[in-house]
Amino acid sequence: MLTIALPKGRIAKLTLEKFEYAFEEKFEFQNRKLILKKAGFVFLNVRNQDVPTYVNYGSADLGVVGLDVLEEKNYDIVKLLDLGIGKCKLSIGLKNEDEFDYNSPLIKVATKHENIVRRYFEKKAMAVDIIKLYGSIELAPLVGLADCIVDIVETGDTMKENGLKIGDTIMKSSAFLITNKNSFTINKTQILKLVKLLDHDN
Ligand code: PRP
Repeated sequence: MLTIALPKGRIAKLTLEKFEYAFEEKFEFQNRKLILKKAGFVFLNVRNQDVPTYVNYGSADLGVVGLDVLEEKNYDIVKLLDLGIGKCKLSIGLKNEDEFDYNSPLIKVATKHENIVRRYFEKKAMAVDIIKLYGSIELAPLVGLADCIVDIVETGDTMKENGLKIGDTIMKSSAFLITNKNSFTINKTQILKLVKLLDHDN
């Protein structure tokens, strides 16, 4: 039996739809249940940022997670398949009237993605003060908490509606099927079979 950690919400729903298509059965979490057992799989309903943790420690053999979340952790994880869902980009956001100054001696950046942001500006040899936030990142430049933000952009509506414009893109992201090396070694045949089944419409 393979255990698969799914991120709560839309990505879990879209992933389960892929299972429905592949196995011709209904896959759905009941009410507030966090575990779903179906067709020889155990699905765990976990927070987005926790998916790599369940997979890394082996409590889940597989997981579905955004590349941005995965890159933020320093786990030794195997990426099996780009599921082609949850497509977005991680971009700099600035107040409409501001311009991003790559020559500034110190920039205050608010973000959920502190490790990715640190690496990005280190490569550019820029000094940054990273302010870690957990949500509503777009607010930070509006109230002077930061000069700019680095956040997920999907439609661009959230930045636009908050008077921000999209600057440079740091990375593109989408949801990947992941595993840990141990589970992959032990369940290789079964996992590769699943990858093939889920890869139907990519
Ligand atoms: C993300 C991100 C933005 C928004 C961007 O938040 O932090 O606020 O989506 O989407 P848009 O470009 O389509 O407007 P999410 O909804 O994932 O919630 P979170 O902050 O709880 O992660």
